[in-house]
Amino acid sequence: CGIVGYIGKRNSQEILLEGLKKLEYRGYDSAGVAVYTASGLQIQKAKGRIANLESKLEEAPLNGSVGIGHTRWATHGKPSDVNSHPHTDNSMKFSVVHNGIIENYISLKEELMAKGHVFVSETDTEVISHLIADLYEGDILKAVQKAVKRMTGAFALGVLTELEPDRLVAVRQASPLIIGIGEGENFIGSDIPAILEYTRNVFILNDGEMALLTREGVELMTLEGNFISREMFHVDWDIITAEKAGFDHFMLKEIHEQPKAYRDTMGSRISINGSRVTLNELSMTPEEIRNISRVHIVACGTAYHAGMVGKYVIEKLARIPVETDVASEYRYRSPIITKDTLVIVVSQSGETADTLAALREAKRCGARVMAITNVVGSSVAREADDIITTWAGPEIAVASTKAYTSQLIAFYLFGLHLAQTLGTQSITEIEETIAALKELPTQVEAILEQAEAIKGVAEEMAKHDNLFFIGRGLDYAVALEGSLKLKEISYIHSEAYAAGELKHGTLALIEDGVPVIALATQHELLEKTVSNIKEVKARGANVLGIAVEGEMELQKSVDSTFVIPKTLDVLSPALAVVPLQLLSYYASLARGNDVDKPRNLAKSVTVE
Ligand code: G6P
Repeated sequence: CGIVGYIGKRNSQEILLEGLKKLEYRGYDSAGVAVYTASGLQIQKAKGRIANLESKLEEAPLNGSVGIGHTRWATHGKPSDVNSHPHTDNSMKFSVVHNGIIENYISLKEELMAKGHVFVSETDTEVISHLIADLYEGDILKAVQKAVKRMTGAFALGVLTELEPDRLVAVRQASPLIIGIGEGENFIGSDIPAILEYTRNVFILNDGEMALLTREGVELMTLEGNFISREMFHVDWDIITAEKAGFDHFMLKEIHEQPKAYRDTMGSRISINGSRVTLNELSMTPEEIRNISRVHIVACGTAYHAGMVGKYVIEKLARIPVETDVASEYRYRSPIITKDTLVIVVSQSGETADTLAALREAKRCGARVMAITNVVGSSVAREADDIITTWAGPEIAVASTKAYTSQLIAFYLFGLHLAQTLGTQSITEIEETIAALKELPTQVEAILEQAEAIKGVAEEMAKHDNLFFIGRGLDYAVALEGSLKLKEISYIHSEAYAAGELKHGTLALIEDGVPVIALATQHELLEKTVSNIKEVKARGANVLGIAVEGEMELQKSVDSTFVIPKTLDVLSPALAVVPLQLLSYYASLARGNDVDKPRNLAKSVTVE
């Protein structure tokens, strides 16, 4: 979900709507605003996209210079007008926008109902507005502080009451929130793009902190009301970088930004003569690196798939055993963590609730935690012991592309860094890998030039309802990501299978005409993969091979091939995934879907 809030002199409705549009990637089941107008607090909300809310507001504008807004990704209660935020109480004098989940909302709701409060929605958020109204004794700040003490779970809040319309209260407890500082006006937002059009000066709230905003200023304090001082953070990115730059969709733009993202992520981390990787940002000493006995990689979604590649990379380059886990499983399986365990969390946004919880669990158990993240100043970045930032720039499309490939680059750099320290690769091997790494951006450019060829294949595939991705080793890790990408945006059902495992069950699903995408970029495994391709071909599958230039044998055994440039086997995921991203993109287009905002998904999932 996304929160935005404004207090100033301008018409708040426009500022709230603009902010919500920037936050739409966080969820778009429904949206709403509450504005203090000449006739008191007024709320308008609408199910569906922000455009629906906008047209309602065009018909009946809410004029006022203080307001809060919200775009929702449903957790408790289905997407509907009534379940949309802002929520209010029976007096309709208080309004609340909320991200996160109030875990004890049922008991609070029962308690408030016994006192005569009447609820209209199924949400946990409505409980907050009633609770605040119940505890109000003339000071909204105090009422919010008291309410927050009663609530458990994760939340970021924006609170406005018509009884004190010159004050806006913001709270952060395990759900991100920032405060924007203007002149004679101040803002709240779930993240920076929401307010970047209006100010570049922000305070980033930490968990357990709140803020009181007036037109004249902002006071930061703990949830207990102890004042805190914080340095202002100046945002120096350009808003244009977050816009489409001439592409039809953010996803396509982001796919094309990958060569730049690779170059930026490698940047000065590779020595000018190409002989070494230097990760100056890491605080780990060589001795600490030598002491690492195992690595756990933990993440969600696409970042988890980057972690699967990371496992192969670290095991190959540094010979340290690695386990990869999805964050929501990891934290509840009492992972075996010793002080020699390095836990690597991977997160584009740095705000994914499951990943953050896994990070905290790992720290609690005494692990050293390193983060690979794309957002400087994100929760994950702030809580990890070490960070490798991926310099992919803002990623807006829900389906992750450049963030994923930049995560791969981060793993290559880290793998090489470990290998240099541990001596697990010779100097020549390291130099060869670095040289091949530096070739990747140009090689991706070459693949992107063939986008049209993939479009035709994608249009054909879009006619099917089921398909398979197969591969061995690193190709299997890429197959998983290719399959996820396709499902996310084209809604075609697909499965990724380790090619050798297909015959143990899934082969039963292969029949005439079923498309199979076979990744075959790993030289040592090529013959084995070719045998598996023959198995599916014999059952009637229509096979598209993703192969390295020059591999004629493979090309002979498939129906069509997409060729990627030659690289080292270990680096091939950074190339092989690109045609799969394009394939998903064009299949989604062919099916007439909303590519950047697939149904039921959100870019940043800040609930467990
Ligand atoms: C959401 C997104 C996925 C993403 C996952 C992890 O589910 O829809 O695309 O991979 O979160 O996000 P993160 O920001 O932690 O990488």
